[in-house]
Amino acid sequence: MVKDGLVPHNTTEENPLDSEGLYPDPGRLLREDPIDLNILKRLVGQSILSVDQFDKALVLEVCKFAALLESTEIAANHPLDGKIIITAFFEASTRTRLSFESAVLRLDGKIISIPTGMVTGVAKGESLSDIGEMFNAYGDLVVIRHTETTAVEEISRNLRLPMINAGNGSGEHPTQALADWFAILKWKPRLKEDRVSEAHQIHLGILGTPGSMRAVNSFLRTTLLFRSGIRRITIVSEMADPLGPELEGLLRESGIAFQLSNDINEVLSDLDVIYMNSIAFLGDSYKTLDSRYKLNADSNLKPDAVVLHPLARLDELDPTLDGTHHNLYFTQAHGAVFIRQALLISILNRFDRLPQKEIPLNTGN
Ligand code: CP
Repeated sequence: MVKDGLVPHNTTEENPLDSEGLYPDPGRLLREDPIDLNILKRLVGQSILSVDQFDKALVLEVCKFAALLESTEIAANHPLDGKIIITAFFEASTRTRLSFESAVLRLDGKIISIPTGMVTGVAKGESLSDIGEMFNAYGDLVVIRHTETTAVEEISRNLRLPMINAGNGSGEHPTQALADWFAILKWKPRLKEDRVSEAHQIHLGILGTPGSMRAVNSFLRTTLLFRSGIRRITIVSEMADPLGPELEGLLRESGIAFQLSNDINEVLSDLDVIYMNSIAFLGDSYKTLDSRYKLNADSNLKPDAVVLHPLARLDELDPTLDGTHHNLYFTQAHGAVFIRQALLISILNRFDRLPQKEIPLNTGN
């Protein structure tokens, strides 16, 4: 069945749809490749602050676990029963807060939510480190978003619970990067292999400024783990130095061919994946970067190219692309719930609550 107005993918060998006809089938990530519980257990009790904590094996197991959760009904097993998750959002969010909360509720956990800092003692001048101390008594895990890059470090001064960074200023957005790669791997599972033939490698275009945009920063760092599948990376930005010295060093070290461009039209017709973003966070405000680069259904995209965007979008990504098979950005947003479920179950070590028959986890024993 294909629903009206949203027809993102073709039913080819490369791109089969899920049973509803909306998104790539998550089962494609699991075939002949059982989940390795010993790798996932590295997350037990851990905070997730940066994608630098992940190696390729861990990203893959999280994505495979998310694929299993996407394709299996597990609510009846109440995996997060008795656990309280604090979602502390000191900056606006549509997707991240609601998808974390949806993930928790679908796993039968409970939530205490701060939808804006102004409903906390911050409005009266309270410090984040004091708020962190309070959180210890109120919940079992904290998901935090803040306008300031330093907020994660400040709150962790007194926090003794695991914490997930849901976006800290212009720093990082690690769970977004996992959702991004979950979407890419469902679209093209062969990119997970350690050897990918040149014919199947992708030319990745990033429209944005990784040095000052958290989602693009985390996405690029994670992409370096999948270097075997990347033929070339082109960063398209209006900034003279969109990477900054650290990211440029990491890219050079990776050995992936890369180039900078200030004109999307120079490369668009060669790009297989286009990652867009225009919102850069700066303290308590944001500015739009690279917003003169716009895509719509008439853009000169390769026939099989896919477009990613962490959203929210402004006018750089035209809604005329929504109903085309180039649209992988709704797959990203949809899959984020399952990535967040996989992380919560892993960090809180609730593997024993999963239905063992439907969730075949390889313990290596
Ligand atoms: N992708 C993302 O972080 O979206 P929100 O700002 O709506 O949470």
